Amino acid sequence: MLVTSALPYANGPIHIGHLVEYIQTDIWVRFQKMRGHRCFYVCADDAHGTPIMLKAKERGITAEQLIADMWKDHRQDFDGFRIKFDNYYSTHSEENREIVALIFGRLVSGGHVYKKVVSQMFDPQQKMFLPDRYGKGRCPRCGAADQYGDNCDVCGATYSPTDLIEPYSAISGAVPVLRDSEHYFFRLPDFESVLRDWIGSGAVSDAVAKKLDEWLSAGLRDWNVSRDQPYFGFEIPGLEDGSGPKKFFYVWLDAPIGYMASFKNFCGTSGNDFDEFWGKESKAELYHFIGKDITYFHTLFWPAVLSGAGFRLPSKVFVHGFLTVDGKKMSKSKGTFVRAATFLEHLDPDFLRYYFAAKIGGGVEDLDLSWDDFVSRINSDVVGKIVNVAIRCAGFVSKRFDGRLSGSLARPELFDEFVDRSDLIAKLYESRNFSGVVKEIIALAGLANQFMDDEKPWVFAKDEKTLGRCHDVCTTGINLFRLLVGFLGPVVPGIAGAAQTFLGESPVSWASLARPLLGCPINKYRPLAVRVRRGQVDAVLEASKVI
Ligand code: MSP
Ligand code: ZN
Repeated sequence: MLVTSALPYANGPIHIGHLVEYIQTDIWVRFQKMRGHRCFYVCADDAHGTPIMLKAKERGITAEQLIADMWKDHRQDFDGFRIKFDNYYSTHSEENREIVALIFGRLVSGGHVYKKVVSQMFDPQQKMFLPDRYGKGRCPRCGAADQYGDNCDVCGATYSPTDLIEPYSAISGAVPVLRDSEHYFFRLPDFESVLRDWIGSGAVSDAVAKKLDEWLSAGLRDWNVSRDQPYFGFEIPGLEDGSGPKKFFYVWLDAPIGYMASFKNFCGTSGNDFDEFWGKESKAELYHFIGKDITYFHTLFWPAVLSGAGFRLPSKVFVHGFLTVDGKKMSKSKGTFVRAATFLEHLDPDFLRYYFAAKIGGGVEDLDLSWDDFVSRINSDVVGKIVNVAIRCAGFVSKRFDGRLSGSLARPELFDEFVDRSDLIAKLYESRNFSGVVKEIIALAGLANQFMDDEKPWVFAKDEKTLGRCHDVCTTGINLFRLLVGFLGPVVPGIAGAAQTFLGESPVSWASLARPLLGCPINKYRPLAVRVRRGQVDAVLEASKVI
């Protein structure tokens, strides 16, 4: 299996909205690996495009310097949140340059690309064409100010940039003029039946398929895959006959190809075979996790490009919704636009992983982070229910039984009941219904705590004659805890890792959880997770406020 998350832009830091995606992909990949699958997770920085070029200019550094700095920052944030990539690369790489050229060449020779002169907004002051969202003006329908050239945020009208009233350049403020330029267009409509078949194969959820159906019925349009200079990207090769100005590949052509390039780079260091995963006859499974805003690129352009260039298509594209904070869009002024690094300064990364998991159902719906709910769930579920089971047993084992588990369980049928639940939990993981996973595990944690309440090891501990029972009860509690934290391992790898150290185990596979730990020594308990105080959250929000 080859799994990807969307490539974050190299023009800004990772924030908690991004993490909805990287955390959910990482949970799924960790689960697949725990099940014993040969599974790789690759990603990269998306390093090209106008915003990156302009950001570098603003900072007075080269684009290359900017993307190198960002790459380091992103890596650090992902490491902090225990996102475990098999490879993290950059789209500004030799591998990517080569594969992009190969793919473009094949599209050209397949007759899927043509040249056409188009008239576009040109900023006479900056001497550049205004790409994408840099031409603004008033909406031609409702007159709302500061709207982009494609559609109006206020009334929803769609139009072309040349329809804008009082247009201006978002870069310099100058009034743009129209200028002709020759561009390369990819014939997306050539692939309509390929796309319909691919969608019919179950590559996307029903909700996404419905959306795609609308787009297909409305008619596919040719796609401009080139950009004029100045542009930070790959120059289109093969145009060096001096007949015209340089052209660059549009960032959205080379970005998804970055998935291939990152994997190719990984093959170089790991000895895996590129064609085994990307060749037309590949038997490997290929999964892309993406946010709903980039559905069009991944479910229409991308499979069409792959098909036109003779590569395999994705097995599935998993589309998730957007994060809101306390019911609203993330906002810099309210301090809810929280950077990954800021969160890490004040809180345990496993807590955000747990909270997101508890909210992710596997569909395209948005999810809300309510900070009060965050505090209460972490304290009641993670600390109060799961970790608590270990705390209730660990002291007895270390003080009364020399740190050794007994040879038998007090209630083996309860242990078996937990093990029996593992198939259902695995199914929920598989379908990315992580909220279902969490619900099942918390229900089991309730049973484990109930068991401790019923068995009262502290009473058995008082009498030499019942000390053996106390030992069996605590051994059972420890084993139930081991299952809880084992099942939850992909969600909270930090806590699970520390729990394994406590239990004297090395990382466990899903199957090996079914055998209880008996008669072996365990280590002294060290706190696995401590309660969250609202003050820690307030500190995060305070540090995130931009005035
Ligand atoms: N660079 C493109 C992706 C290219 S993939 C070949 C991009 N980058 S991004 O940095 O804007 O977003 C990266 C991923 O994070 C996307 O899947 C996007 O949907 C997701 N999210 C960004 N903000 C988000 C939220 N607020 N909530 C949930 N996901 C969010 O798009
Ligand atoms: Zn409008």
